[in-house]
Amino acid sequence: MAVLVTGGAGYIGSHTAVALHEAGRRIVVLDDLSNSSERAVDAIRALTGGNLTFVQGDAADVDLVSRTIVEQDVDEVVHFAAFKSVSDSVERPLAYFANNMGSLVGVVEAMAATRVRRMVFSSSCTVYGEPDEVPVTESSPTGAANPYGWTKLHGEQFLEQVAAVGGLDVMLLRYFNPVGAHPSGTMGEDSRGVPTNLVPYLMQVAVGRLERLPVFGADYDTPDGSPVRDYLHVVDLAEGHVAALDALPANPGCRAINLGTGRGYSVLEVVAAAEHALGRPVAHEVVDRRPGDVARIWAGTDLAERLLGWAASRGLSEMLADHWRWQEAHPHGYGD
Ligand code: NAD
Ligand code: UFG
Repeated sequence: MAVLVTGGAGYIGSHTAVALHEAGRRIVVLDDLSNSSERAVDAIRALTGGNLTFVQGDAADVDLVSRTIVEQDVDEVVHFAAFKSVSDSVERPLAYFANNMGSLVGVVEAMAATRVRRMVFSSSCTVYGEPDEVPVTESSPTGAANPYGWTKLHGEQFLEQVAAVGGLDVMLLRYFNPVGAHPSGTMGEDSRGVPTNLVPYLMQVAVGRLERLPVFGADYDTPDGSPVRDYLHVVDLAEGHVAALDALPANPGCRAINLGTGRGYSVLEVVAAAEHALGRPVAHEVVDRRPGDVARIWAGTDLAERLLGWAASRGLSEMLADHWRWQEAHPHGYGD
């Protein structure tokens, strides 16, 4: 049997494909390469000794996904395929509703048609909006502040409904802020266009592709005034998916689970840690707040530890050192 990894050529999907292989699973990646390149698939192949089937196509294509499930003997699905930029979603809300909901419904339809039950869904701590209290736990109030967040919240609700009528067993994994890269330096984050996330932007400043990191606000009600997030190593996050699939048979139905470290760092702390990892300063300047940013959020991690037996083990300096190893070796991502 095999695991179907939709969006498996992307940042988190590629690391998860490798972790699944290392855990003894056969992997099938389905990706339309809308935000990734076939070179990422080559990187997975190199790290898994070629043990990978790659299908290029749209996860919303029910016939293609059904056929792939049957031909490849798939019995578990990890669904990453989605657009992920908050700012882009505000500019192109329809594209986000169509792609993120369309691919989710397509995959669930294909699973129903082929009687595959077990699924892990990429959700996000964006579903907590601006939290009143930190850390946020899985029972904290939810909401959506932008079209991207809407697709995650409604994606979760859709899956809850399908599970409630007995159609699926699913873990909704609410990721906090993944950073870092595979320790080999051969696989990492390579989104198209100018990055919007903190660490990818910072690393492109460090390699000279961008001039200066804008620090979006230092006047928040936080210890140093800059916003606080829960950054976790992408390899820890990848291993969380293996743990979730392993835990599904004993935990049927639908469950939301935070995947974070339980510890927050401010933007200025991340900049200082990156400068330490790189051994040199990174040009940055404080500018106005970015609309829609929350002041602080980090994860309550008890449920992940209890249900999945999973806890993040890699710290911020390891995340930044690994991210830098990848970026320094590949200043233009997989294009080099
Ligand atoms: P990514 O863009 O690197 O990966 C997503 C992959 O899905 C890409 O390879 C893209 O080509 C593919 N894809 C998109 N639409 C598709 C479709 N319709 N059919 C087939 N393939 C499609 O993003 P990522 O950072 O790896 O994120 C993976 C998932 O995790 C997404 O669902 C994202 O919303 C979620 N998530 C990401 C973060 C983060 O900070 N990176 C945080 C929380 C949640
Ligand atoms: N930041 C800067 N400068 C930048 C980029 C970001 O100061 O150039 C700051 C932001 O203001 C924020 C922090 O760095 O305070 C983190 O920003 P990111 O864009 O890296 O991450 P977010 O927490 O805003 O959002 C990310 C993903 C979302 C996802 C969310 C929760 O982009 O898709 O994490 O998982 F929903």
